[in-house]
Amino acid sequence: MKLRALSVAIMSVVAASAWTLGRAAEPIQPIKAIKPKNPAMVELGKKLYFDPRLSLSGFISCNSCHNLSMGGTDNLQTSIGHNWQQGPINAPTVLNSSMNLAQFWDGRAADLKAQAGGPIANPGEMAFTHELAVGVLNSIPAYKAEFKKVFGKDTANIDMVTDAIAAFEETLVTPDSRFDKWLKGDKKALTAQEKAGYELFKNSGCTACHYGPAVGGSSFQKMGLVKEYDTKSKMAGVAGLTGKDADRMKFKVPTLRNVEMTYPYFHDGGAWTLEEAVDIMGKLQLGRTYSKEEIAQIVAFLKTLTGKQPDFKLPILPPSTNDTPKPKPFG
Ligand code: HEC
Ligand code: HEC
Repeated sequence: MKLRALSVAIMSVVAASAWTLGRAAEPIQPIKAIKPKNPAMVELGKKLYFDPRLSLSGFISCNSCHNLSMGGTDNLQTSIGHNWQQGPINAPTVLNSSMNLAQFWDGRAADLKAQAGGPIANPGEMAFTHELAVGVLNSIPAYKAEFKKVFGKDTANIDMVTDAIAAFEETLVTPDSRFDKWLKGDKKALTAQEKAGYELFKNSGCTACHYGPAVGGSSFQKMGLVKEYDTKSKMAGVAGLTGKDADRMKFKVPTLRNVEMTYPYFHDGGAWTLEEAVDIMGKLQLGRTYSKEEIAQIVAFLKTLTGKQPDFKLPILPPSTNDTPKPKPFG
């Protein structure tokens, strides 16, 4: 009797640890909901994110290219910048970008704060200068009061602007996807086809690069590991920074969270459909040609990664004053 109880106890310990081990061994972890540390800063950052007056034209905001109604992207092959300039590269999503090991396709910005100053002063994007952008904000008393409330200083500077935008971006996480529900134990959250897709994704090696809570964003890898990627784009990836030949075509592995919303795919926006992107990944990264059915399974799995989209009230921006420099949309 005693022995039997003991062996039952041991069995359940073994089963429980196998269960936790099994869970810990999943290469993908659920996204945690976020509770903002500084809600006032997040509110200010949200306004700045939506404010086109941070651009020379007075027309382009962060949301122009990272549209939060469309998965944090522009759904264009490459972005349109100041004066309708054709951008060189596809806009990655801002959703869950706080989980990236670094920002940009080549990782040239260490974090969201370092990134946020870039587009304002980039001649091909918002085409402004930090001084002029901050000048616009300081000409608007309602903004000045809000900066004072958040940072305790009478005049805004670019450091505060990038702090606030980064604080807002940190709230742009997408928990509660069906896949996360499944990971947390809701076995009914996925269909048989979606589960088969996940098994294939795992067993054929996609998770060597797409892993962690963001299903990517954790390493730089060569695009075209097994077979060269056929592209008209001139972007060289990390090699553009290091000048090293070994870094040619190395890009940050993109997150696959919300990937059904963030088309077109790859740094050049070269693939418009998930079917195409999965087929290319199989052939170029793993040397494997999937059948139509297998591709449909993986695509079905990828679509379960769509999470709860950020849900907030559209910010109402304080109006310009007589002293606010005028926008220059043309020329
Ligand atoms: C004209 C379009 C455009 C505008 C405006 C723009 N971005 Fe971007 N953004 C891009 C493109 C394109 C990239 C990729 C550039 C690269 O990797 O070289 C990018 C990259 C990023 C990334 C990195 C994401 C990642 O996964 O690496 C973040 C974060 C980001 N932008 C936030 C912002 C913020 C905040 C603003 C406003 C201050 C902004 N962007 C304005 C087009 C734009
Ligand atoms: C060796 C690393 C590696 C492996 C293995 C890998 N990927 Fe990728 N994946 C990448 C890189 C790097 C990119 C970005 C390439 C680019 O933009 O040029 C990418 C991009 C993608 C994209 C496009 C995402 C976007 O937003 O642009 C999808 C979808 C994708 N991978 C799915 C898969 C699937 C499915 C598998 C397994 C069949 C897989 N990947 C295997 C490294 C990898």
